[in-house]
Order: sequence, then structure tokens, then C-alpha cells
Amino acid sequence: MIIKHAQLRDREGLWDIVIDKENIVDITKDYPLKDQDKVIDARENLVTSPFIEPHTHLDYALTAGNPSWNMTGTLSEGLNIQRKRGDLSKQEIKTRARKAIKWYIANGVQVIRTHTNISDSQLIGLHAMLELQEEFAHMLELQIVAFPQQGIYTDSKMVAQLEAALKEGADVVGGAPHFEFTREYSVQSVKKIFELSQKYNCMIDIHCDETDDDHSRALEVVIAEAYHMGIGHLVSASHTTAFGSYNNAYAYKILENAVKSNINFIANPLVNINLQGRYDSYPVRRGLTRVKELLETGINVCFGHDDLLDSIYPLGTANMLQVLFMGIHVCHLTGYDQMNKSLDLITTNSAKTVQVEQEYGIEVGKPANFIILQAKNDYDALRRQSPILYSIRQGNIIAENNPLQAKLWLGNEEDEVEFLY
Ligand code: FE2
Repeated sequence: MIIKHAQLRDREGLWDIVIDKENIVDITKDYPLKDQDKVIDARENLVTSPFIEPHTHLDYALTAGNPSWNMTGTLSEGLNIQRKRGDLSKQEIKTRARKAIKWYIANGVQVIRTHTNISDSQLIGLHAMLELQEEFAHMLELQIVAFPQQGIYTDSKMVAQLEAALKEGADVVGGAPHFEFTREYSVQSVKKIFELSQKYNCMIDIHCDETDDDHSRALEVVIAEAYHMGIGHLVSASHTTAFGSYNNAYAYKILENAVKSNINFIANPLVNINLQGRYDSYPVRRGLTRVKELLETGINVCFGHDDLLDSIYPLGTANMLQVLFMGIHVCHLTGYDQMNKSLDLITTNSAKTVQVEQEYGIEVGKPANFIILQAKNDYDALRRQSPILYSIRQGNIIAENNPLQAKLWLGNEEDEVEFLY
């Protein structure tokens, strides 16, 4: 397969990408076509590495309205609705999650990390995800986080269940230390998560300080453990919304130590701009972590969608460009240079976070995994929320969308406009 006339993020001009079986074998200009070549003309559009979803909850995806709609939009009502619903069957979880995965694929996502609640003793959600991981293995990498949604020491069975989930094949150990009863339990839970990551040789991704409480300080413990164990690159702190409320003196200490520890941060702009600030009188906080300052300090940050059409977040189409659009606004990243490299936040930074960097990138010798966007560059894709024209994985087309095209009737003339805006 040959991709003709491609714009690339890191090179000037138009390029042809030559693919042999599963891999990229050449990136060149004016590649001479042979009769038998299968050709996709990118038509001067942007070809980039696929989008990555580093933080979602597929076991709840598409459950909005079941058994009732969230009438306040708050997290507490969302969690109450989950409790009222009780455990879904494996088949129900798979049916909804399968649909959500297909939405992600159609939107150019090829890696998903999903936090799976392991609070039920049967580990139903985990089993559903393990089956979907196998079912979609040829189309995307699905990483499963064993997620004790209400913390580890709030329930005497939770450590055993977490361990069982890791034994059964979860790829990442998760946690929610801000839900523990006390500061001491919170610290203990972070230490247990790191201990389990060593025992089961897995990555760590913790729902960390997802609250507006500026006294919620699990993040400093995550940073310290990662630093002392030297495994920061394998560790992700998700949400860290309390970091947005810390006093500056403390926040800058955290920034310095985060650099030393080399951990990754995942912010979830759609969900946290919705959930945070709910206890505030005016002014109402935005409630996101300090994305701009983290990036300026050289710390790796990426964006996740988080909940998708469920009792906690009632919107979403599994489109990472929507996530990016919200994040750019909420985090004050609308500087021209910031917008011109904004796709980093849903591509390369995410690849580093979920540890798929080795196979990721449009380079000779790497797998032919990429997307073609109906856009010329990052800024264009961000501004116009461009659709994906093709998603290609290991040399095969796995998704294809028609270009968005507008027709105007101006008097008697029919005028086709490909890019209306
Ligand atoms: Fe989450």
C-alpha cells in the first residue's frame, strides 16, 4: 500500500508512505507507482499516528439512563445510580463496551486503557474486558486497569480482589486513595498499589486526588514511591484535580518532585470540567490539574475522555478531538504554538504514558499504524474538529469515513465546498 501526498507533523512538504505488509518501509517524495500498487491519496491531508485513549471506563460506557438519568449531573448522584443498578451481566457489559470500542475505532483510536471496576467479587467487568481484549486484538490494543473504585481499605475484601484481578490478567494496577477513610489509609493504599505492581510486574494508573479538596494529597505519596523505586515512567497519576486547588508554594514543590520522579499525568477535561466545582459558591473553580505548568516543566501530560455516556458523564462520542478541544480551552492552551502541537496531548504524550512508544510513530521500520485526518495540521484539526478519513493498522484499513462536504445552492449554481470553515 502507498499513501500519496501526505502532510506529516514533523516534516515540511508532501510525502509518500510506502507500506509492505505490516510495516512502513519508506517515506519518500514522488514514489513511482506500479500498476499493482494499492494507493490511497491523502490529498495533502495530515497523516499522523493514531489517537490514544489513555483513560476510560468501558465497563460503564453507554449506560446513561439505566436505571435512571442523573438529574443533578453530580458525581455523588452518578455513583448512587450505579449502586441502584447493581451488577450488570457480562453479556450486557460486553454489548455496550463493544459498541463504544467501535466508536473509538471509527474516530481513529488504536490504543485504549480502560479502568475496570473490580469491586464485585465475581470480577464480571474484568472478564468482559479480557474477552473484548482478545476479540479486538487485531484492531487495537486494549489495556485493562484493575480499578478498586471506592478505594482499597474501605472494604475488607478489596486487596484480595485486586490481587485476583492482576492474577487473571489485568495489565495495570489502579486505585482511588482519595476515597480511603483517612490520610493514613490513603498512604497505605498507595504503598500497597506499588507493592502489587512489583509483585505482578505491571504498570500503575491511580485515580489520584479527584476532588476539589486541597488537603487531598495522595499525589505526593505517588511521586515519592515512584521516585524511590525508580519506576516513574510506568506510573500514571490520573485526574489530580486537587492539584488545581493547592496553594502555589505547595504546588511548586510538587512540580519539582514530579520532575524528579518522572511520572505521567492524565487529565480528563470533559469529565472534570463537569464534575468539579460542584460544592463551590461563586467563583466556581475549573477543577482541572495544572496542565500548562506541568507541560512547561517538561512533565509528560496527556488527555483522556474518561466516562462515556454513563451516569457520571452523560455526553461524548468517543472522539479524542472533542477531549482536546475542551482541554485546550479549560487549561488556557490557546497560544498559537500550543495549538500547533496540541495533537501531542492525544498522541505522542499518550503513547509515552501507556508505554507503547516503541511501536508508535510514522517512521521507517515501524508498524503501519496511522490515521488520515481531513485537516492540514494540528491547529486545523483542533479548530475544525476534523473527521478521520482513514484509520490504518498494520497495513490494513480498519476504519474509513467519507470526507465532510457542504453543498451550497447560490442562485442556479451548485457550489461544492469541501472545507466550509
Ligand atoms: Fe476515571
